[in-house]
Amino acid sequence: MTASDSLPLTATRRFPPGFLWGAATAAYQIEGAAAEDGRTPSIWDTFSHTPGKVFEGHTGDVAVDHYHRFHDDVRLMADMGLTAYRFSVSWSRVQPTGRGPAVQKGLDFYRRLVDDLLAHGIEPVLTLYHWDLPQELEDAGGWPHRATAERFAEYAGIVARALGDRVGRWTTLNEPWCTAFLGYGSGVHAPGRTDPVAALRAAHHLNLGHGLAVQALRAALPPGAETSVSLNLHELRPLTSAPGDLDAVRRIDAVGNRIWLGPMLKGAYPEDLLRDTAHLTDWGFVRPGDLTDTNQVLDSLGINYYTPTLVAAAREGDAAPRNDGHGASAYSPWPGSEDVAFHQPPGERTAMGWAIDPTGLYDLLLRVAGENPGLPLLITENGAAFEDEVGADGTVHDPRRVAYVHGHLEAVHRAIADGADVRGYFLWSLLDNFEWAYGYAKRFGAVHVDYETQARTPKSTANWYAGVARSGELPA
Ligand code: NOJ
Repeated sequence: MTASDSLPLTATRRFPPGFLWGAATAAYQIEGAAAEDGRTPSIWDTFSHTPGKVFEGHTGDVAVDHYHRFHDDVRLMADMGLTAYRFSVSWSRVQPTGRGPAVQKGLDFYRRLVDDLLAHGIEPVLTLYHWDLPQELEDAGGWPHRATAERFAEYAGIVARALGDRVGRWTTLNEPWCTAFLGYGSGVHAPGRTDPVAALRAAHHLNLGHGLAVQALRAALPPGAETSVSLNLHELRPLTSAPGDLDAVRRIDAVGNRIWLGPMLKGAYPEDLLRDTAHLTDWGFVRPGDLTDTNQVLDSLGINYYTPTLVAAAREGDAAPRNDGHGASAYSPWPGSEDVAFHQPPGERTAMGWAIDPTGLYDLLLRVAGENPGLPLLITENGAAFEDEVGADGTVHDPRRVAYVHGHLEAVHRAIADGADVRGYFLWSLLDNFEWAYGYAKRFGAVHVDYETQARTPKSTANWYAGVARSGELPA
């Protein structure tokens, strides 16, 4: 791109032609119908039914009943001007035990959903794994266990053979950092284990599962189908420029970001990660050939971004238990970096307590683009929880969310103008939904859901976003 090509983009804040205007959801957070049509429990069913794990004992048993209301929900998407919709498939709905033949009724649900999307001109973007491992696979060892990666690739092949004729964009994993380190490290997510070595083993088997699944997808999908992965890359900032704080950034970057980017995009684990964790494991679970399997050519990289992370070397008196934005736990989700302290960035925050800072998204995009020339990027999640209320007139006015999305889209626009090849943006989330350990207490939706009646009410964000999506341009 030449300087003169980029000028009009900057001047008009117009997004490139074909830019995907999306919204995202995940199966366990919206579907409900937990025991219907052959579905069996996933680790999130077990976890949410375990007292004390999820806020006020909330579960995804009913969620927002999307399994029965998907048709109306697709209409809401069309009203929002979406050109793409990112959703995940519930593994337990399609292959209840995580092994063996597929359940046709489970596959039929997703086929109906996809057909409905296509009929409305909305491109389906399918994620294979958004945290809901079939419970039987966890009982057999879960992600710390190598066989889970192999089962995942088989499942990927099943879904690809069933839906490959109508879904063109495939994502293997969503935020494997959360699966490994919140699921097996700090224990604030399912399956709730607190073992740093299990967390590192899980990370490797997620990398391997990703690579094996990409190969299974390529074998099953028609030419032209695109494969990707969605990572919650941490945009890290040091508290001060003292060497200890800069080293804290390096350590968290290793176990938060490069632990995925290395194996998936370069075929190697970072040397400093292996050093930082050497007192925990010799990484003997990485077998010869694994890093060739993890390193598959991808058609794009999905980035989920919400807030920057401010870190420092722990100083005397820094408080435990730890809460770095994902829920309090006595256990660290950062194996080998337990002496790093997390600080609250200054400024306005969302209802999650997460600082609002679109410059973090800009910086992250420029970094990833600079390190991976030629790799198209997608923002596969960005959004905010606020305490929304239904007004007396029945509308939901959420100007803070509009401002959040506006600010972050400006950052995306600026990153594109400065050379990052960003192809689309997916708002998290289409609907208010089950926010994991926070249950239904945090609302991220562009569309409000009354959990008693399941009534859907588009918030001001939905109307505002429709304007942007239809015009392809940010208002002033
Ligand atoms: C990341 C996850 O992928 C999604 O499931 C979650 O609801 C949002 N972030 C908000 O926390």
